[in-house]
Amino acid sequence: MTIFGAAGDLTKRKLIPALYNLKHSKLLSDQFAVLGIARAQMSDEEFRSRMRDDMKEFATDEVDAQEWKWLEDRLFYLSGDFNDNAMYARLKSRIETLDKDHQAQGNYSFYLAAAPQFFAPIVEQLGRVGLTNEADGHWRRVVIEKPFGRDLESARKLNQEIGSILDEHQIYRIDHYLGKETVQNILVFRFGNGIFEPIWNRRYIDSVQITAAEKVGVEQRGAYYESAGALRDMVPNHLLQLVTLTAMEPPISFAPDAVRDEQAKILHAIQCPSPDEAAQRIVRGQYGPGEIDGKKVPAYREEPNVAPNSTVETFVALKLLIDNWRWADVPFYLRTGKHLAARDTEIAIEFKRPPFVLFRKTEVEELTRNRLVLHIQPDEGISVRFGAKVPGSIMNIGAVDMDFDYGDYFGDTPSTGYERLLHDCMVGDATLFQRADQVEAGWAVVDPIQKAWKEGAPPDFPNYASGSWGPQEADDLLERDGREWERTSDISTERRLHRG
Ligand code: BG6
Repeated sequence: MTIFGAAGDLTKRKLIPALYNLKHSKLLSDQFAVLGIARAQMSDEEFRSRMRDDMKEFATDEVDAQEWKWLEDRLFYLSGDFNDNAMYARLKSRIETLDKDHQAQGNYSFYLAAAPQFFAPIVEQLGRVGLTNEADGHWRRVVIEKPFGRDLESARKLNQEIGSILDEHQIYRIDHYLGKETVQNILVFRFGNGIFEPIWNRRYIDSVQITAAEKVGVEQRGAYYESAGALRDMVPNHLLQLVTLTAMEPPISFAPDAVRDEQAKILHAIQCPSPDEAAQRIVRGQYGPGEIDGKKVPAYREEPNVAPNSTVETFVALKLLIDNWRWADVPFYLRTGKHLAARDTEIAIEFKRPPFVLFRKTEVEELTRNRLVLHIQPDEGISVRFGAKVPGSIMNIGAVDMDFDYGDYFGDTPSTGYERLLHDCMVGDATLFQRADQVEAGWAVVDPIQKAWKEGAPPDFPNYASGSWGPQEADDLLERDGREWERTSDISTERRLHRG
């Protein structure tokens, strides 16, 4: 496994700890070695000692000295510039030596944990020196991090560029959301149980809300975020993954293309808003100063590497409609933002209310909507809300929750979220990776929004306080439809308190 960008954050925070966890779970072959590449000058020994130190901070569990030693002995390093032709000749010969020493049998993966402008040039160079050629039964795979393009046009161009060197089956476009157990469980929950699928449609479901709320701000990533914004950063990838898994038809098997075909159909069925609709259905926000966890925090415009008059959004809420038989007229409300009141990612399915007729002559004013919530993180679980009679001689209904918590049932499995994805790449299972058409379909949803925003005047930013739930307009968006956002933080706190 060759990692481009071995001196970067992803390598130390996720990739090396994930490889260690895979070793711990006995899922790494003995015929395995890692070659890190970055500009920094380092010897193998220096790279190993750096990773050893970083593990003290980023390992997800206690590190077993013997298992770490096993991995450390397989870490190697090459310093070089990704644009330098000569570097790729050195890379090739280094890989061939490592291959011989570790009997890797010509099976190579290349992980591009590099800045996006290097994706196409690296692939081209790998092709030029023959490292992408699959022959004699060995495989060559390239893992590409996000962001994959910044709009439909650039994503198409990138697909064409890498597609001229690699076959689609060699390309693993990663979306780390799909490494989350709770995200993978959506398919099992929907299709591994008999009771949910019959009611999983427009006849019974009123609306779907997907929230990915973060407490953190842009931290040290101001420069990247200024060119991305919340919409590009979170929607075409992570949030649309959650939409497709929630909305897709049952695939005919778990074969990669069977699953991805169904996901792609949903992306194609999402109605792209016209500029007028975009103005009504999409809300953007930018955080001002405020308080989070009792601490004063700055406005986005005061963050490092952010322009003092930046019009980049740090929050977006939108209403999507999926134009197919299962979902016609069922709104999917999505929201995501930074410096919000809580860290919470969840999918809430709101069911239609039953007829009120029986309760007309009682004290009951309104029936609760049944609600099923898939808690993705940091709480991991599923809860169902239903109405129950409040004990007493007067008819009254209280809303109660039935809760399933992963930790309670299965214990905690320390993970970085990259283990499954790295392992799938090694065994050649691309189900949890994005195909070219999926990535493009995701951008096709987002492009008209970008366009409408560019044409309209920017809102008066900042328009929400750090530590709040985003701009008022996001609440108005649902209120106009007679609905309101799930109060995620309260519910999560209740769950935590309940679990003690
Ligand atoms: C990344 C985004 O892809 O996902 C970040 O670039 C965001 O801005 C992160 O914070 C969220 O992922 P997670 O797994 O921490 O919820």
